[in-house]
Amino acid sequence: MIKACIFDMDGVLVSTEKYHFEAWQRLAATLDIVIDEKFNENLKGVSRAVCIDLILKHGGIHKTEEEKQQLAAQKNEWFLESISHISPQDLFSGVYEFLTLLQEKGYKTALGSASKNAPLLLEKLQITQFFEAVIDGNIIEKAKPNPEVFLRGAAAIGVEPQYCVVFEDAISGVQAARAAGMYCIGIGSAEILTQANFCISSLSEMKLEMLEKLKT
Ligand code: BG6
Ligand code: MG
Repeated sequence: MIKACIFDMDGVLVSTEKYHFEAWQRLAATLDIVIDEKFNENLKGVSRAVCIDLILKHGGIHKTEEEKQQLAAQKNEWFLESISHISPQDLFSGVYEFLTLLQEKGYKTALGSASKNAPLLLEKLQITQFFEAVIDGNIIEKAKPNPEVFLRGAAAIGVEPQYCVVFEDAISGVQAARAAGMYCIGIGSAEILTQANFCISSLSEMKLEMLEKLKT
């Protein structure tokens, strides 16, 4: 039976993926690189440093490590501007209710995000108290699709991987969850998140019975 739920943040709990995308597009434009929504699927779930490498490779441009760090800092500055007004009202519909239900029913919960801004966003959204462990981009060494983030999350809450279900909106995140030996419920299109066990369009569709039906 499922004992724990591990959540990605951007694109699962809150619609911050669009701000990441806007900031990356703006940064890419300064380098005369065009990125579209399709390309952005590769940027979802992976670390800031990896995103820079993917964009530069896409544009066929080489930068030094120092230049890459400057680009990352610029992107993050724009992203932080975008999220400056985020409040609990920006949570996706159904998120607060589902987290409350899990807490009431005694499920363990963890956050598994590639973002270094995860603690700040949890605070702004006022949902920090729902997570017994927060594993984020400040802690992990290997970006998704490496399973590190979810394995650390499971270890921190003391639940074996096969009893965990991960909620993910990114291809790399779904791959990471499956590589960790966990169930994965995709948030988004099953045509894109092909390795998820099944997909829903948002957490408002989640029912406890769906967790109870997953066989471990
Ligand atoms: C992930 C997002 O959650 O965090 C990525 O899906 C983002 O798009 C990554 O690049 C890193 O985030 P941050 O906030 O540390 O730049
Ligand atoms: Mg995400």
